[in-house]
Amino acid sequence: MEEFHKVRRLPPYVFEQVNRLKASARAGGADIIDLGMGNPDLPTPKAIVDKLCEVVQDPRTHRYSSSKGIPGLRRAQAAYYARRFGVKLNPDTQIVATLGSKEGFANMAQAITAPGDVVLCPNPTYPIHAFGFLMTGGVIRSISVEPDETFFPPLERAVRHSIPKPLALILNYPSNPTAHVASLDFYKDVIAFAKKHDIIVLSDLAYSEIYFDGPPPPSVLEVPGAMDIAVEFTSMSKTFSMPGWRMGFAVGNERLISALTRVKSYLDYGAFTPIQVAATHALNGDGSDIAEVRSVYKRRRDVLVESFGKAGFEVPPPAATMFAWAKIPEKFRAMGSLEFSKLLVEKADIAVAPGIGFGEQGDDYVRIALVENEHRIRQAARNLKRFLSTADDTMHNVISLNAHR
Ligand SMILES: Cc1ncc(COP(=O)(O)O)c(C=O)c1O
Repeated sequence: MEEFHKVRRLPPYVFEQVNRLKASARAGGADIIDLGMGNPDLPTPKAIVDKLCEVVQDPRTHRYSSSKGIPGLRRAQAAYYARRFGVKLNPDTQIVATLGSKEGFANMAQAITAPGDVVLCPNPTYPIHAFGFLMTGGVIRSISVEPDETFFPPLERAVRHSIPKPLALILNYPSNPTAHVASLDFYKDVIAFAKKHDIIVLSDLAYSEIYFDGPPPPSVLEVPGAMDIAVEFTSMSKTFSMPGWRMGFAVGNERLISALTRVKSYLDYGAFTPIQVAATHALNGDGSDIAEVRSVYKRRRDVLVESFGKAGFEVPPPAATMFAWAKIPEKFRAMGSLEFSKLLVEKADIAVAPGIGFGEQGDDYVRIALVENEHRIRQAARNLKRFLSTADDTMHNVISLNAHR
């Protein structure tokens, strides 16, 4: 029987292959150190959990909630944008709460895309950026992920040679998986470009608060006039270690927010009210929880870079996000990121995410998530050192075979 049209456009998740291998190694008793999925391991701060427990006792909160988010939650998000970015938002028309930023992004794609619409999407990038549009019949044109002057010449070419003219441009800084951080000047140039060509800008700012060096990442909405064409997505998953709670936001241009709100009003009744109230409490907090999360990831990053480097695997220190994006050591590169990731599970008891899962431009890399504690990261480095130091003797078949690809 033929596969459904939509399902055909969704290849099996590449990460699944590594996950399956990981599960079978664990079933065989291996202690796999899992630096693969970007699934935060830190507990949600106690005050947020306590608020949820308190509110859930009130039966009035058990009814359907508000799809666009309860007013207090939208006001708290407006206050966050004012405080953190100096951006003024109308909570009634420029903010909608989403079931995590992933849902918001995917339904925005659904709301605005007609079959055949062209969308400019970084490569490599977080998969929903491309697949959100592919699912709705859109067409993806890959663009660079590097937020510098090299970004624009290929972008100009992509716009000139796209028929129809592109509908939207995706930004994701700090980037998953590459950890690139964009400056406000870069955003100014992107907004000027997008306005000139009448292109919508969708910015995924899921890692707004996970930064270590340099100034805090800006919002694209800080650019004067960005509100005319841009929407930005933020997430509570990483900032407040709330990935399972499914709480995020889309903010910005009224027409776009209204389109997303309309689609969502047909699809969902919003997050469970106690979750929305607890999220409001989190956003209205004093920021100390966020500082703590940031410092945990920073320490892990430092341990990762130092210990993996000593083990013979150079990892550039990410300035932000909870990921390092590391080039596969030269002698393994030709085998590709999926095979290399499988090898790490089998021979070094380490799971990482193969770069190919983020797009073809990612195949020389693996993404290493900072989701195990410092002790476990050091253990991973010891495993890696053992693997790398014996690889020449034990892997000659694998390496030479794949080098001929
Ligand atoms: C860039 C990016 N956007 C969105 C998400 C999804 O976040 P949420 O849990 O808010 O859906 C992630 C999660 O890994 C991410 O890395």
